[in-house]
Amino acid sequence: MNALVTYQVEDNLALIGLARPPVNALGQPLRAAVLEACERAATDMAVKAIVLHGANGLFSAGADISEFGSDASFAAPDLPALLLRLTQLDKPLVAAIGKLALGGGLELALACGYRIGEPGTRVGLPEINLGLLPGAGGTQRLPRLIGAQAALDMMLSGAPAGADSALTLGILDRLSASADSLLDEARAFAHELVANRAPARPAAPFPAPAEGLPEDFLARFRQDNEPRWKSRLAPRLVLSAVEAACLLPLEEGLAREVALFKQAEASSQSQALRHVFFAEREAGRIPGIDGATLLRPIRKVAVIGAGTMGGGIAMNFANVGIPVTLLERQGEVLDRGLTQIRKNYEISVKRGKLTEAKLEQRMALLGGTLDYADLADADLVIEAVFEKMEIKQDVFRTLDRVCKPGAILATNTSSLDVDQIAAVTSRPQDVIGLHFFSPANVMRLLEVVRGRKTTPDVLATTLKMGRIIGKMPVVSGVCFGFIGNRMLEPYSREAHRLVLEGATPAQVDGVLTGLDLNMGVFSMLDLAGVDVNFLVRDSNRAAFAHDDSYCRLGDELYALGRYGQKTGRGFYAYEGRNRQDDYEVVALAERLAGELHIARRPISDQEIHDRCLFMLINEGIQLLDEGIALRASDIDLVWINGYGFPAHLGGPMYYAEQLGLDKVLAGISHFRQALGEYGEMWFQPAPLLERLVAAGKQRIEPL
Ligand code: 3HC
Ligand code: NAI
Repeated sequence: MNALVTYQVEDNLALIGLARPPVNALGQPLRAAVLEACERAATDMAVKAIVLHGANGLFSAGADISEFGSDASFAAPDLPALLLRLTQLDKPLVAAIGKLALGGGLELALACGYRIGEPGTRVGLPEINLGLLPGAGGTQRLPRLIGAQAALDMMLSGAPAGADSALTLGILDRLSASADSLLDEARAFAHELVANRAPARPAAPFPAPAEGLPEDFLARFRQDNEPRWKSRLAPRLVLSAVEAACLLPLEEGLAREVALFKQAEASSQSQALRHVFFAEREAGRIPGIDGATLLRPIRKVAVIGAGTMGGGIAMNFANVGIPVTLLERQGEVLDRGLTQIRKNYEISVKRGKLTEAKLEQRMALLGGTLDYADLADADLVIEAVFEKMEIKQDVFRTLDRVCKPGAILATNTSSLDVDQIAAVTSRPQDVIGLHFFSPANVMRLLEVVRGRKTTPDVLATTLKMGRIIGKMPVVSGVCFGFIGNRMLEPYSREAHRLVLEGATPAQVDGVLTGLDLNMGVFSMLDLAGVDVNFLVRDSNRAAFAHDDSYCRLGDELYALGRYGQKTGRGFYAYEGRNRQDDYEVVALAERLAGELHIARRPISDQEIHDRCLFMLINEGIQLLDEGIALRASDIDLVWINGYGFPAHLGGPMYYAEQLGLDKVLAGISHFRQALGEYGEMWFQPAPLLERLVAAGKQRIEPL
């Protein structure tokens, strides 16, 4: 028998085990092996029922993502055909779902008439995260099993359901007492089915999943959800497929699903999202770190500073059961910080995302102190005090004195030199930057800033810890602003300059959100606070002293007390949540343009796109050349997870590759000429970009 499956017949049962580690991805060779095994069981008179399981415990993570976009994806037997064949067998099939069944893995289980899970089983259809829809019967069989509404929720969120809710929904028929007993209980289930002469139980051929729902349910669903989908294709295709499930007989619905799936698979959005999937796995591969790198145990964490960031950072650890001590200078500030954390958890309780009991459990893990001596046994300390070098160095001198040997000392600085902070300690090898993003308990990005002397085990431990607390850790070298904020600078500079040249904040933001970015530059500044931005900029003015004219707009708004949403006025005027361009800002831009001798003119949307995006891309390429970022795809992850760049565009580096690197270079060269002195100063193509184009490369990589 094919080595990709195990096959045993015992006691009238055929046990077929998927054996393609690590996750039994259903690539063509495994599909062929499953088909062969099932046909063998079908023709063996001694076999009365079939149990399909994961030979190594885990059932299946679905279709092989690396096959998409190639002929292998639909090479015979393709997944829909294989699953159709399973539903035609006249012997009952039991899927024993160990650990997880995702995407095509769940579709495989749905093609079996019966399903048993274990207490830790997770099932889901996460195809949406890859810009796809379930393409092997999931959109037709799941709604028939659990109803259109629940199936839509599952497919559109992509989130897996735990064992209990899968049982309640009816996706699972049974749960085993433990993971160890899953296969035995699956066998017993199959024997019962045989004894009871149970039918194979394929999905119903007729459409019925919308039963009990209002007639206009799908139309209303589309109307309510379209705005949030922006230009994403996959959710719309999921809905079309479910519509087919509600209206068409199974056979026609399955055919419709295949057509929609092929459309999604060929889309640029799905290609970009597949790039992101592999980028996330690649980000964990760091030269000099491998499985042999010993990790330091992290059992206790301390956070210095219980302000906006410190509180959020602390929550991450309490959420995964790790005790955290928060240290502040004054009891009152500490109490305020802890109260804020409780309030944040209370919001989650109100939204039904957390139980009262869990809230109390988490709060019990959070302690406060004013005394550094209490940090002596912390394994990881994260500093989140004011953004001032002297203050941070002071804190690190103290930490060096009180912390145990081997403790990892991290700073959450967003711009300061981690090496200078490390230098005041006697243990720079244990110092690292952990740059969380605000709100720190929510945002997925974690820039892990490797100092000159940071040791591989400190880096490896913090990367692992980052994943444990649910973050997407990306390694950055030390430079002003690290990867994300350094790229933000030229991008936001262009936005400001364009307003001086004649665009309005709403026009600039409109072009950016038109690309599906979460927010434009100016609405982001108004949300974060024009004052906060001013203070950060002011303390770093020396870094761009040769020309800070483009900052004048923000400086003047600050002077006018227009701090953004919190004062009702900033780059925009606000009425409640509505914002609009404000004549005062336009007049201010006109005046400043006059003072700075900038000619105002109508600005096209294309120019806004090219100037903001090309400068963002150019800086990213420069960061790669400097070795601050390890790879282009890491930069994509930073902008997707920290700055609201749409994942379905693949991140700024991937986006540039799709636009064409020659086009990006030509655009930068054009503005260098067209924008006079300003262009000369700022539109300098990154040397790596020039080298890549000269070498005819389509991908951004070190050269
Ligand atoms: N296809 C190909 N490779 C896969 C894969 C898949 N479906 N799922 C995981 N892998 C690979 C990863 O790339 C990784 O490879 P690497 O070690 O070479 O980097 C390895 O398996 C282990 O994966 P992770 O590092 O992600 O391991 P975790 O334990 O953290 O997570 C997981 C495991 C939860 C299964 C996670 O990998 C995951 O979410 N996988 C994707 C699941 C998914 O999206 N399935 C739907 C596929 S599309 C589909 O089925 C279409 C169908 O409807 C026709
Ligand atoms: P914050 O002002 O809200 O909180 C800072 C806290 O540190 C205050 O509660 C203060 O009392 C405390 N503190 C100051 N000096 C201290 C000391 N010597 N010992 C103990 N506690 C001390 O500031 P925020 O926004 O939380 O920023 C903290 C750090 O995080 C800064 O380095 C900032 O650059 C960085 N950061 C901030 C982000 C944001 O969006 N706010 C995003 C990413 C990083």
